[in-house]
Amino acid sequence: MTALDAVVYGADELVAGPTADGSGLETYEDGAVAIVDGTVAAVGPTAEVTAEYPPENASHTVDASGQAVVPGFVDPHTHALFAGDRADEFAAKLRGKSYQDILAEGGGILRTVRAVRDADEETLLSNLLAHLDTMLAHGTTTVEVKSGYGLDTETELRMLRVIDSADDIHPVDVVPTFMGAHAVPEGWDTDDYTASVVDEQIPAVESQGIAEFCDVFCEEGVFSVAQSRRVLEAGIAAGLTPKVHAEELAHIGGTQLAADVGAASADHLLHATSEDIDALVEADVTPVLLPGTAFGLGATYADAAAFRDRGAPVAVATDFNPNCHSHSMGFALSLACVEMGLTPAEALVAGTKHAALALDRTDGLGTLREGAPGDAVVLAAPSHVHIPYQYGTNVVDTVLKDGSVVST
Ligand code: NIG
Ligand code: FE
Repeated sequence: MTALDAVVYGADELVAGPTADGSGLETYEDGAVAIVDGTVAAVGPTAEVTAEYPPENASHTVDASGQAVVPGFVDPHTHALFAGDRADEFAAKLRGKSYQDILAEGGGILRTVRAVRDADEETLLSNLLAHLDTMLAHGTTTVEVKSGYGLDTETELRMLRVIDSADDIHPVDVVPTFMGAHAVPEGWDTDDYTASVVDEQIPAVESQGIAEFCDVFCEEGVFSVAQSRRVLEAGIAAGLTPKVHAEELAHIGGTQLAADVGAASADHLLHATSEDIDALVEADVTPVLLPGTAFGLGATYADAAAFRDRGAPVAVATDFNPNCHSHSMGFALSLACVEMGLTPAEALVAGTKHAALALDRTDGLGTLREGAPGDAVVLAAPSHVHIPYQYGTNVVDTVLKDGSVVST
């Protein structure tokens, strides 16, 4: 027995995904989508879809007249599990303090590490669930969440357990990434800490069996390219797909490393060169750009248009974390257009289909094509252009996850 979960019909504009040549969007005027057993069964003109799938037979129906329907957002880079906040550091940065100064004084990531080590599992879980609620209300239906505020085996495993529980409980799909190499904990030498990530944390993470990716902060003054490589190669041996925080604050070669180890993505890339872009394209590594972080740091934005012009599948993420406290893919997509040179259509693909590629999802996630997960966002606006256009406004009206209305 199959179940007709949902029919969304009468949309002014229904975006099924990028066109086959990637140059635009495949859209339907007066469009509809039918979702059967959690999966898109039909998409197209309302008359055709509803003839085969009558709305009156569906568990959920949405009359989307006057509205646009787009695939659910995929946010492929967050540090959404943490305790406390760092609002005072935001204010200090406005007074001229740098991110690195704050970290060197034991603030930044290290401060959040202390807060997370002190928090019990229940608190961490309720913090993460609250953030997922906000993300869902802003249209995010799949999110990657990294560990990396534990920096010891016990707390890293605790973070991954919480991420796994949140995935079980919450409608948003949560993709778990191990990031023991997020910073060097206080009192440690970087080489010694790298060895402990490789020799202790990764084997423990492997036997726990929750994490899917392994990420590293490959950055001047944090983990060198050689140290990052050790971590990522140990991760690969443990079945974890690599990801790299690369060329965020300085250019040290993290992009080339991502290409060498066959990473799923290289992220940040503010200082990537044209050779770096070529290396990523050649190695099929998805570039993930994080304009909200550049916004908060007052930094220069990554050059999204340069990646696009070389044919790279540019993805955009929020990087939601205590240093970049934005849950909103819509805001990230506004910045991607205004500050990084993407069109609204390219920005939407960056936050859906290409974001799914950054998570190695090739099952149609990030599209509303037949066979794709039934994750859709109905906007309180008539076209996808309103997502970046209405910056600072949540234009999301209704969210469907696997064919169920989960947010209105
Ligand atoms: O991607 N750069 C490293 N990690 C995060 C920031 C995490 C934090 O500051 O707590 C990022 O921006
Ligand atoms: Fe990050």
